[in-house]
Amino acid sequence: MVSCRGRAVVLACFVCVSLRGLLAQPVNATAEPSPETSAKQLVRGPSDALSPGEAEFIRQRKEVVLASLGRLNISSTADSVPHIALLGSGGGQRAAVALLGSLQQMGQDDLLDTLLYIGGVSGSTWTMALLYSDPQWSVNKVFSSQGVHGDIPWWSPVNLIVPGPYWWLKTKSKDEDFSLSEVWGVLTSYLFMKHMDQRLLSAEASRDSTNPYPVYSAIEKECFNTNTTDAVWFEFTPHEAGFPELGHFVSTAYLGSGFEGGELKERKPEMDMVQLLGIVGSALAHEDSIAEMVPSWMNMSTAGRPTAVKDHLRIYFTLNILLELLKSGIKDVTDLAKVEELQKRASDILLEEVPLHTMTKEEQVEELQRKNLALVASVQTWVAEMNIGLQKNAVTELMEVVLPLLIKWQWGTTENFLYAVKDSEVPDCLQSRVLNLIDGGIAINMPYEPFLGKKRDVDLLIAPEFSAGEMFETLTLARDYAAAVGKPFPVIHEQDQLQR
Ligand SMILES: *[C@@H]1O[C@H](CO)[C@@H](O)[C@H](O)[C@H]1NC(C)=O
Ligand SMILES: *[C@@H]1O[C@H](CO)[C@@H](O)[C@H](O)[C@H]1NC(C)=O
Ligand SMILES: *[C@@H]1O[C@H](CO)[C@@H](O)[C@H](O)[C@H]1NC(C)=O
Ligand SMILES: *[C@@H]1O[C@H](CO)[C@@H](O)[C@H](O)[C@H]1NC(C)=O
Repeated sequence: MVSCRGRAVVLACFVCVSLRGLLAQPVNATAEPSPETSAKQLVRGPSDALSPGEAEFIRQRKEVVLASLGRLNISSTADSVPHIALLGSGGGQRAAVALLGSLQQMGQDDLLDTLLYIGGVSGSTWTMALLYSDPQWSVNKVFSSQGVHGDIPWWSPVNLIVPGPYWWLKTKSKDEDFSLSEVWGVLTSYLFMKHMDQRLLSAEASRDSTNPYPVYSAIEKECFNTNTTDAVWFEFTPHEAGFPELGHFVSTAYLGSGFEGGELKERKPEMDMVQLLGIVGSALAHEDSIAEMVPSWMNMSTAGRPTAVKDHLRIYFTLNILLELLKSGIKDVTDLAKVEELQKRASDILLEEVPLHTMTKEEQVEELQRKNLALVASVQTWVAEMNIGLQKNAVTELMEVVLPLLIKWQWGTTENFLYAVKDSEVPDCLQSRVLNLIDGGIAINMPYEPFLGKKRDVDLLIAPEFSAGEMFETLTLARDYAAAVGKPFPVIHEQDQLQR
């Protein structure tokens, strides 16, 4: 089946699963101790080798895989254990639920232990994070909705506020309008945060090999925007985070700390899973929907809008989605009017003209940030004043968590561990003090990148596609990407593509 080492096989497939009973109850996140990290190994590279931690994990995991293949009557030896990776695509909640369903089915068929890796991008990362909050998830196989109100456990806090998402999830299998799922990325992150402790990815470095090794993918915005292909993809593992193509990494516990010339300058706390999901699963860049809201004053003669303008639109857009959600859960007309009043207030702020063309870039940024803060402040004031009975606490909580996240987006940057590194290989897009890591689904909605090439030497990529749009687009994008970075990719037969 999978013995052709070095020649990766891609199995892109639909996995048809029932949505019922697939949703996992969040397991208590255990506070695992942060691993000791030796000072000299904080940054690594350029290197195309596995991190020592991952290498050791994989060595142990292969024993699990070997035993699993034995149970399936597939003969293999310690030296020839196939490297199998399951990839979780983007696609908002659809992807999150579908990955869970795929894993549940694999669990029923005793296939989970054949996996060496699980890679995720965008929506799939929500499910990964949820599952990995249980260090034994692939043994415990808790994919059910037990103990949770209604059919939809991970939405339960929102069920208190609005029936909107509840209704939406119920009908999601029929829903062809996929855009909304990505739009709700913020909300989903928040919900995960509610359910998961503020776990650190690096804490998983001390785990045993019970589960496949998790790899979360994102992209670096500046490098993506400037087409600097070999610095676009970014990965997070329990041991290291960094640019696989460039081969530069930082110890995951130190991602976000200040570095200069490869030296640690300022220790900062590691991002927790909520923040990480905010990065890897934040496909709010839903440009089509956002484009519909562009007020006329943003109609600029210059080609393309500055990032600050786009961010302002996103913040407004997210607030508006939140308020729409809120509204859908309110029956009382007086309360409804209050939310509408707030929407009006936010809309007024958006419409308030900024003469961008007369301003310098710095002034534009400053002015738009002022507007962002005004937007957020309008909601904060309103939340403080409001009185929607029982819903108040839930709404307040939601807003209190989401509003800072919104501001964070505006400046949602991570310290660049490659800052001032003297290596001619570090491209221009990585010269600034900060990185802008965003949802990788914007580039390719399937996390192929970490598994291409010799580093992880994967033999079989199982890539169930949960994207919207063109079904095999990720496959051809990945092929083209692989060609651009000089890595092998399986031949795609056109006739296979057509067999949907
Ligand atoms: C989760 O934590 C609570 C409180 O610490 C405890 O009562 C409960 O048994 C835990 N649940 C699991 C599944 O570990
Ligand atoms: C493996 O082979 C044994 C003996 O032929 C058979 O009893 C068993 O059902 C097989 N298991 C699987 C998973 O095919
Ligand atoms: C990046 O490359 C693509 C394809 O070669 C091209 O269409 C696009 O305009 C480029 N973008 C930039 C910012 O150079
Ligand atoms: C937007 O810009 C275009 C091109 O400069 C112009 O033709 C159009 O009238 C502008 N629209 C508004 C609403 O300002």
